[in-house]
Amino acid sequence: MKISIILLVMVLIWIGVSNSFIPGKVNFVGKQSYFTVVLDCGSTGTRVNAYEWLNNITSNQDLPTLLHSLPDHSTKNPLQRNACRDHCMQAEPALDSFLHNSSGIRAALETLLLWAQQQIPSEKLGDTPLFLLATAGLRRLPNEDADWILENAETIIKEYPFLYTRSSIRVLNGKEEAYYGWVALNYKMGSLENSMKVPTLGVLDLGGSSLQVVMEIDESREDTHFFMSKLGSI
Ligand SMILES: *[C@@H]1O[C@H](CO)[C@@H](O)[C@H](O)[C@H]1NC(C)=O
Ligand SMILES: *[C@@H]1O[C@H](CO)[C@@H](O)[C@H](O)[C@H]1NC(C)=O
Repeated sequence: MKISIILLVMVLIWIGVSNSFIPGKVNFVGKQSYFTVVLDCGSTGTRVNAYEWLNNITSNQDLPTLLHSLPDHSTKNPLQRNACRDHCMQAEPALDSFLHNSSGIRAALETLLLWAQQQIPSEKLGDTPLFLLATAGLRRLPNEDADWILENAETIIKEYPFLYTRSSIRVLNGKEEAYYGWVALNYKMGSLENSMKVPTLGVLDLGGSSLQVVMEIDESREDTHFFMSKLGSI
C-alpha cells in the first residue's frame, strides 16, 4: 500500500501544475478520464503503477478523483515476489545494480512498460504521461552514475508511446519523496478535500534505504526542513 500510495502522488502534483492537460475520450458518466504511469525506482526493485483519473467538476474538491490504481487485487501478477504482493508489479534487482549494463536496464524496464501499455486503452497511450522517479537506490550513487542509468532508461522509454519530458525521468530528493508520501496518504484518507478542514496525518516512511518523516505544522519557520506547499486551492 505504501508503494502505490507514494506513487500516485507524483501524478497529483503534476496535475496540480498543469490543469489544462485533460486528454482522453468521454467514457465515464459523460466526463473524460485520463491515465498516468509511474515507474518507481526504489532501492530493492523497480515498480510500475498505472492510474486512471477523473476531473470531477461536480465535486467541491479541485483535486482529480482517482478511479483506478493498477495493479489491484484482480490483476494477475507475473512479477509477484514475496517482497511485493497484491498492489505491486516489481522487477528485481534495483536499477542501481545495472550500472554500465544497458541490457539489464532494458530487461527490467521492458516488462514493466509492456504491462503498463496493456492497462491503458490504446487511443489514450499517446496522451498518457509517464514518470520514472528514483529514490535512495540511485540517490546514493555518484551523479554521473545515476545520470548514466537515467539516460539508458530514457532510451528505452522513448520506444513506447507514452508522453514524457526530461524532467519526468529523475532522482527525487529526500524532501520530495517525503512530501509525495504525505500527499498520497492524505489524499487517500480524504484529508485534502476543500469542503472540510480535517487534520492531516503525519507520515513515518521506513523505506529500503531511507527514512522520511513529514507532517503539517501551523506556522512557518526559518528551517531547512520546512516548506510551504499548495495543493489545488489549499
Ligand atoms: C464526483 O463528486 C461528487 C461529489 O463529491 C461525488 O458524489 C461523485 O461520486 C464523484 N464522481 C466520481 C465519478 O467520483
Ligand atoms: C546485465 O544484467 C543482466 C540481467 O540481470 C545479467 O544477466 C547480465 O549478466 C548483466 N551483465 C553484466 C555485464 O553484468
